[in-house]
Amino acid sequence: MDARGILATKRDGKRLSEAQIRGFMAGYVAGEITDHHASALLMAIFLHGMEEAELAAWTHAMLESGRVMKFPGISRPKVDKHSTGGIGDTVSIPLAPAAAACGLAVPMISGRGLGHTGGTLDKLEAIPGFCTQLSEADFARCLERTGVALGGQTPDIVPADRKLYALRDVTGLIESLPLIASSIMSKKLAEGLDALVLDVKFGSGAFMMDRSRGEVLAKTMLGLARDFGVRATALHTNMERPLGRMAGHALEIAESFDCLEGRGPADLRELVCLQGGEMLRLGGLVRTLEDGKARIARSLDDGSARATFVRVIEEQGGDPRCMDERARLPKASQVELVRAGRDGVLAWRDLRALGGAICELGGGRKKLGDAIDHGVGLEFEVPEGAAVRVGDVLLRVHHEGRGLAEALALVERSFELVDAHAPAPLVLATWTA
Ligand code: URA
Ligand code: CA
Repeated sequence: MDARGILATKRDGKRLSEAQIRGFMAGYVAGEITDHHASALLMAIFLHGMEEAELAAWTHAMLESGRVMKFPGISRPKVDKHSTGGIGDTVSIPLAPAAAACGLAVPMISGRGLGHTGGTLDKLEAIPGFCTQLSEADFARCLERTGVALGGQTPDIVPADRKLYALRDVTGLIESLPLIASSIMSKKLAEGLDALVLDVKFGSGAFMMDRSRGEVLAKTMLGLARDFGVRATALHTNMERPLGRMAGHALEIAESFDCLEGRGPADLRELVCLQGGEMLRLGGLVRTLEDGKARIARSLDDGSARATFVRVIEEQGGDPRCMDERARLPKASQVELVRAGRDGVLAWRDLRALGGAICELGGGRKKLGDAIDHGVGLEFEVPEGAAVRVGDVLLRVHHEGRGLAEALALVERSFELVDAHAPAPLVLATWTA
């Protein structure tokens, strides 16, 4: 493999051939091509981008570095969702059992907290005993028995992404649209899906803050879904404010339980119904999105989604009694109140600071492998755009003393009380592949 030739091609802004891409990826995963070569190539891709066919070949080569899961025992349509992440984005947890209760199979491979955003795996581990480290056989068994499997990336799932992501992280090359799109989509395509719903966030708490870059990311991922024959829809949703009333692992699990009992915050329920409804439509179980939303809403209200989640928790080794007895969930021992310093209207300014605050309290990792505290987090008392009086409680900080001063300073930076503020809609746009 002529690694230097490949580097020179991309360095000069020319298009890589499929053979060059496959050779490079295979050589890199096998250790024959070094991190030196790979980082130089990633920088060239970062600077020059990739054409559509080139990106499809790149994603295909990533996928080929590992295994694509197959579930011969499952006849239901296999449909998943992916969110680019944010503050308090709890949607996946009630969504997966609701979609399964309506007849889909949801093979969901999730990640851990990344940067300022929380990770679904970390949240699930707030459920006592819940195991997310599933082998491929465990994963298939959960999926067959419950319609849901909630696992992490195994060594066989896109090993190229593991290496490339770590390299991008240390070289400042995360923020490249083709590299992000191929990283996300290769992992989702490895689930052997029929269809996929993508939730691309916009706003100060989003991975891709800028709306127009979010749109390009969404459309790039949809293009890849089309290339691989997976039906897909992307939604552009609001992360200028936190989603729901809670952010933090156990707090979000409690909020998910509320949603599965037909209660809980309206914005969380709305996104669960919308994304679940679209999953049912793409999976061919309903004709229209409206029918799909109504089916999901019914599963939340009639207890079937909740009953499915009880079976998922049992199947993955967790203790479902925490649904009835919330005191079994981890809980921080102290609460600090943040109050309004003046009369005004709540406007969020910097949601990354809220993610940073949770991290300071011990709810996030500063480096890979750090233990996290599942009980800490933030509880939002006032919706964006609501009028408050001086002294009113804006939010509750659930903490153990650790990092409190730093967290409070970050929370103060995250919002402003202003004279007037018009919140953006929950959903800005919907695109279909
Ligand atoms: N999430 C991923 O999985 N990959 C990226 O490159 C960025 C976010
Ligand atoms: Ca939430």
